[in-house]
Amino acid sequence: MNTKFDFFNDHSEQYLEMAFCADYMETLHNPDGHGKNTGDCGDTVEVFLCTANERISDLSFRIEGCINTRACANTMARMIEGKTITEAWGITPQDIIQYLETLPAESHHCAELACGALYRALADLRRNIRDPWKKNYIFK
Ligand code: FES
Repeated sequence: MNTKFDFFNDHSEQYLEMAFCADYMETLHNPDGHGKNTGDCGDTVEVFLCTANERISDLSFRIEGCINTRACANTMARMIEGKTITEAWGITPQDIIQYLETLPAESHHCAELACGALYRALADLRRNIRDPWKKNYIFK
């Protein structure tokens, strides 16, 4: 019997949708928050956030990495869109792993990478809200 994993038949619908979604893949210029995270594997996720009335009003990301990283970054983006800043801080790698259902165990660090970039963008957002004059000096 052939027990080889069949990418398109064995992955969950959510995984396949998030792996191929291109809705959020762009650079936002002059975002309210920006965070970049590179893992030991060399993959990078870069998150751009804009806010209005304490909510994430717009977001995007850029990635250099594998399809699992892409699935995780898309899931992260889908989960925080329209959420409050406090709710966005609450998203965890485990939430992403649970949502995707079939993210391989050896790629769980891809979810950590996506969340790490999000947390850095949220921290940058917090700095820019506290000291708005610094924004133009931090992000180029
Ligand atoms: Fe390292 Fe995807 S393989 S983040």
